[in-house]
Amino acid sequence: MKDVYIFAIESSCDETSAAVIKNGKDVVSLTVATQIPIHENYGGVVPEIASRMHSECITYVIDDAIKKSGMKMQDMDAIAVTYTPGLLGSLLVGIEAAKVLSLVYNKPLIAVNHIAGHIYANNLEDNNIVFPSLGLVVSGGHTEIIYLENDYNFKVLGSTLDDAIGEVYDKVARVLDLKYPGGPNIDRLAKNGKHSYNLPIPMKDESLDMSFSGLKSSIINLVHNENQRGNVISKEDMARSFQDVAIDELVRKMEIAINNYKVNNMIVAGGVSANTKLREEMQKLADKYDIKLSIPKINYCTDNAAMIGAAAYPLYLKKEFSDYDLNGKSTTNIFKF
Ligand code: KG4
Ligand code: ZN
Repeated sequence: MKDVYIFAIESSCDETSAAVIKNGKDVVSLTVATQIPIHENYGGVVPEIASRMHSECITYVIDDAIKKSGMKMQDMDAIAVTYTPGLLGSLLVGIEAAKVLSLVYNKPLIAVNHIAGHIYANNLEDNNIVFPSLGLVVSGGHTEIIYLENDYNFKVLGSTLDDAIGEVYDKVARVLDLKYPGGPNIDRLAKNGKHSYNLPIPMKDESLDMSFSGLKSSIINLVHNENQRGNVISKEDMARSFQDVAIDELVRKMEIAINNYKVNNMIVAGGVSANTKLREEMQKLADKYDIKLSIPKINYCTDNAAMIGAAAYPLYLKKEFSDYDLNGKSTTNIFKF
């Protein structure tokens, strides 16, 4: 079969990215322009600044990705772009750029769901999703356990009833005066910390739903109380104590899912899949049940266009193309692709 080259664009949050992906798997080129140093000053992503930065960077990022690929836009088979979920003003910058490329070069346009992108990051390079599979989706906006029957046929088995796990990492980091995004900073500090704080364990039920807001609130209260008393909080110990409880809960729920669904394959997807402890604990769980585990390489865990190219590939094969009415959508049901 002829090789398929997809030019992909991602601009849903605070990274402007473009990539050339071959056959939904090989990363021919990838360019990511991150806005983190700018948003860091505000403790989180400022939507207005994000869309302005995307507008400033998009042309450079597209040119750079195509240059690094050694190919020409004419050589591409399709143009893919994230259309949901995300910040509307940010999504629109990528969507408009993709429409222009599609029109000028006469290539089909493929609309990609960002969460599907995180899932299909598990097809990049040496990884691959084997169906059926259990999936743990953990990002700034999502915490779900899913069943992947086959391509784009996914079912939610359980989800957070309140805060997404990435959001909790970011909030805990904030109360500890760590820079945005908090996840990587907590991950780093936890390595030198002891589990010395006694934090509430999320409800020990057997469902596949989860809850992290109680854990978050107890940390915020504890830190405020200690500050008021003039006591010093050990950031390392708090990072370690929080991370132990949070990751144990994710892994405990995945173990319940394994026992209920008897699968041979598991994947982890989303920004939090970059977490060192989660990666280690999921590997231990996979070994215990002799399950094949796929977690994307670290640079494909957080937002990037390579994963959008990977997620576009099954849509290309099914000829699920989009027209120029394509619009951005800030929120979405992740399983209605
Ligand atoms: O998937 P993502 O890049 O953006 C969304 O689609 O939401 O995920 C971003 C989230 C942030 O909450 C960030 O703190 C978290 O992923 N994150 C991590 C790590 N790296 C990124 N959380 C824990 N440990 C990490 N190493
Ligand atoms: Zn993301």
